[in-house]
Amino acid sequence: MDVRVFKNAEEIGKAAAEIYAELLVKKPNAVLGLATGATPVPTYKNLIKMYEDGSISFKDVVTFNLDEYCGIDKNDKNSYYTFMHENLFSHVDIKEENINFLDGNAADYEAESRRYAEAIKAAGGIDLQLLGVGTNGHIAFNEPADEFTDEAFRVTLTQSTIDSNQKYFGDIPMPRYAMTMGIGSIMRSKKILLIATGEKKADAIKKMISGEVTPRVPCSILNNHADTIIMLDEAAAGLIK
Ligand code: PGA
Repeated sequence: MDVRVFKNAEEIGKAAAEIYAELLVKKPNAVLGLATGATPVPTYKNLIKMYEDGSISFKDVVTFNLDEYCGIDKNDKNSYYTFMHENLFSHVDIKEENINFLDGNAADYEAESRRYAEAIKAAGGIDLQLLGVGTNGHIAFNEPADEFTDEAFRVTLTQSTIDSNQKYFGDIPMPRYAMTMGIGSIMRSKKILLIATGEKKADAIKKMISGEVTPRVPCSILNNHADTIIMLDEAAAGLIK
């Protein structure tokens, strides 16, 4: 793992967007794995700026998002589909047909998992996967568990995740389930970029950096990936030496 520490979230946003831009210049039809949450927002802001100044285009880019809630419409204001449109897709020249999401309301979750795996394979695999990390060490919605997962599946969200994300839903109780890419699907990405900011992430980062690979700390699996960059602000790096 290539661990890089930055002063703050803004600096990570710039550096992470640079990694995406380098790939898009080299490979304009790259397959991008994208993440939601507060952490990637500065990265997306910088990508929009780069698109606006003409240094990158999303015209031939294909995207796969990590996860989607179950039980809310994809056009709901809290869906990850809406989040990605508001924070990136509506501001750049990506084609709607090149945007891929898991369907949180699929009638058959196993068939939906197979569909997503086949779509990723047909696109040639994910070139660069962006990840945030949960305070409990989750990546996508792979919560601490007894075993690492493989392909996408329907997950029961943990209380820690609900406590972190309920704020976006205000008074409406947030969904208890989501469809998420599995650990195997994430690990098959050619390159991975994990970004983490703030003191709340410091414990998960410390456990990941310790090198012990365990499904109780899902992000620790990244120790087994050959091409992973970790970008941390000083607070998230606060417990590592
Ligand atoms: P956050 O979420 O960026 O909103 O902290 C990260 C995650 O849960 O993966």
